[in-house]
Amino acid sequence: MIQKGLDGVKICESSICYLDGINGRLYYRGIPVEELAEKSTFEETAYFLWYGELPTKSELEEFKRKMVDYRELPAEALGILYHLPKNLHYIDVLKIFLSIHGSMDGNDEDLREKAIRVASVFPTILAYYYRYSKGKELIRPRKDLSHVENFYYMMFGERNEKIRLLESAFILLMEQDINASTFAALVIASTLSDLYSCIVGALGALKGPLHGGASEKVPPMLEEIGSEDRVEEFVQKCLKEKRKIMGFGHRVYKTYDPRAVFLKRVLQEHFPDSKLFRIASKLEEYIVSNKIKNIYPNVDLYSSVLFEELGFPRNMFTALFATARVVGWTAHVIEYVSDNKLIRPTSEYVGPMDVEYIPIERRDENG
Ligand code: CMC
Repeated sequence: MIQKGLDGVKICESSICYLDGINGRLYYRGIPVEELAEKSTFEETAYFLWYGELPTKSELEEFKRKMVDYRELPAEALGILYHLPKNLHYIDVLKIFLSIHGSMDGNDEDLREKAIRVASVFPTILAYYYRYSKGKELIRPRKDLSHVENFYYMMFGERNEKIRLLESAFILLMEQDINASTFAALVIASTLSDLYSCIVGALGALKGPLHGGASEKVPPMLEEIGSEDRVEEFVQKCLKEKRKIMGFGHRVYKTYDPRAVFLKRVLQEHFPDSKLFRIASKLEEYIVSNKIKNIYPNVDLYSSVLFEELGFPRNMFTALFATARVVGWTAHVIEYVSDNKLIRPTSEYVGPMDVEYIPIERRDENG
């Protein structure tokens, strides 16, 4: 039987994440994601996903120290920065640095340790490239700031009182079962390739507009709509042209994506006057109340508006998503290879058989 897009196919047992697409619920190792987004931190949730249990105070302190120590890029990798063109997509920048980093990182170490090292260095890569490409002086990582605070500081050279909102968004984006990019990571892991290759593959999958790349398409789409009163006209035009409305629809959620619900509430509270937010809300209201294609807003609709309001460049939005999701990718790789099976699906062959090979000089140009 063919299961197009592997829709609903279970490829392994997992105790990392439970996604209830009918009721719109998401749990990380049994805890509702909203609770973690409200009460936990990036470091604590990452620890929880990697180790399977919430850390004690001393475990968390030691873990945070480790993440701080892993923030800086190796000097050889940093040297490459100054040779890069200044208009690269941030996902490609991550792929470049992780490929270099991976080649320099020995292959014999505990996978979890490597995962922590990779996740710790993501913000540094993005902030360094951002500042280099804008002709600004690089800002070195600060040891006294949390993972997310330090990221913002390295980007913009200042603190932001709304930084907790970014941390909550990162927690919400950290994990999502076997989505396309996690699956890409697992396919690579299942060949017993190295962890960095798994992440580079996952980054490529995330970049596509049907997945994490949707976040970069949302703000231009909202600008194209232009005002709340033009929502209906826009949706009808998309339906007529069979164009996908970015930030809506999901393979598993057949109701509200709980992450979108959380982020909408955050935006309502902190950025109620944002024009993009008002258009996004109106779009949601129109699509849901009219049961358009039975789709609902997904996380990218509101995370992109939040990233915009916090001042991040649009071509970094997918890389922001990756900065969080790298935790989920690596947690799944660690779990999967502990009971590994090469992932190797097959296809239903529907082409011709026993076709004659015609030498090139006898092939008719006109068919
Ligand atoms: N706009 C318009 N129509 C849609 C949309 C949408 N966003 N999503 C689904 N549909 C329609 C689709 O055209 C199809 O209609 P029909 O049966 O008449 O051909 C029907 O709904 C089923 O859609 P599908 O594409 O077969 O469903 P899927 O489960 O393969 O798609 C999806 C999931 C995410 C690829 C799709 O909803 C989509 O393309 N959304 C827009 C891109 C987007 O926002 N992606 C982010 C996903 S969530 C976060 C993440 O994973 O990164």
